[in-house]
Amino acid sequence: MTYKIAVLAGDGIGPEIVEQAKKVCNAITKKFGHKFEYTEALVGATAIDQVGDPYPAETHELCMNSDAVLFGAIGHPKFDNDPSAKVRPEQGLLKMRKTLGLYANLRPVNTFKSLIHKSPLKTELVDGADFMCIRELTGGIYFGRPQGRSEDGQTAYDSCVYTAEEIERIIRLGFEYAGKRRKKLTIVDKANVLATSRLWREIGQKVAPDYPDIEVEYMFVDNAAMQIITWPKRFDVMVTENMFGDILTDEASVISGSMGMLPSASIGVHTSVFEPIHGSYPQAAGKNIANPCATVLSAAMMFEYAFGMMKEGALIREAVDQSLEAGVVTEDIADGKKAYSTSEVGDWLAEYIEKA
Ligand code: IPM
Ligand code: MN
Repeated sequence: MTYKIAVLAGDGIGPEIVEQAKKVCNAITKKFGHKFEYTEALVGATAIDQVGDPYPAETHELCMNSDAVLFGAIGHPKFDNDPSAKVRPEQGLLKMRKTLGLYANLRPVNTFKSLIHKSPLKTELVDGADFMCIRELTGGIYFGRPQGRSEDGQTAYDSCVYTAEEIERIIRLGFEYAGKRRKKLTIVDKANVLATSRLWREIGQKVAPDYPDIEVEYMFVDNAAMQIITWPKRFDVMVTENMFGDILTDEASVISGSMGMLPSASIGVHTSVFEPIHGSYPQAAGKNIANPCATVLSAAMMFEYAFGMMKEGALIREAVDQSLEAGVVTEDIADGKKAYSTSEVGDWLAEYIEKA
């Protein structure tokens, strides 16, 4: 069978990093005898510039008809600095998440032995930290309505909305992942203030008895923000709502020493999407300096989560570990030593896999 991969490179460094992930995928498919067929489509600012829509219908069509989506990054400063822009690249990402039904975003947070010294946290705090943050991705304040401005423009509002059904499916997923790991689930909310959070907590308490072997705790998001950097090893699986998850995972990404190392998988109803958690890093676009590892590791998650190919995923992880060990790294983690280019890192990884 030929696996159909939709490639949505997007903006900024997106095309360069996705190119390296493709190299790595090609090395894997060659080695293991799989067949991949890639089809590219527009998304983000690039899509706005070319066709006036950040997530065109053809792109959606392609995603729906693919076995997995490999996604680069979106965003452009010309939109960030223009609050009045009517069409924004981010709307494309949100529409893709919503229309593909990607309600769960899995963001594994872990450390790499040879990078630990790059972490802003003390080695003894982060060495061995390993948790999975499950971020709800299609609800909450990102999508709640009403959203907008009063007629005189002097008041603005967003709405945080969650249905019991949306909460239950993501919390159950949290329990299931905890069951496959160290059997500890932290449900993060702000139940002392927010009505949606109180519903989250109520549903957590309702479903917890179905998972008697999982130790569950409830934690306020402000406390969680503190514990992530003071005691990250206490976490196993964390499940939380959309915006809390967005913020906490950026925070958690620094544990590994570079945001350029953290992958993610968005799963749900239709085709799953695999993308780095970092943004489009426009300052580096076209310079061949960006770290491709987060995207390469997202491809590893694609093999594991979309195709159940565990050996393939493991070999990609091994290649990344070995590249760090060998010092074949981009400038963000080069530590004053020789920095390799984005494409050199990609070539090295592909070659490692082919020779393995
Ligand atoms: C992410 C990003 C997006 C988000 C932006 C680009 C809309 O920060 O994937 O974490 O907030 O979800
Ligand atoms: Mn984010």
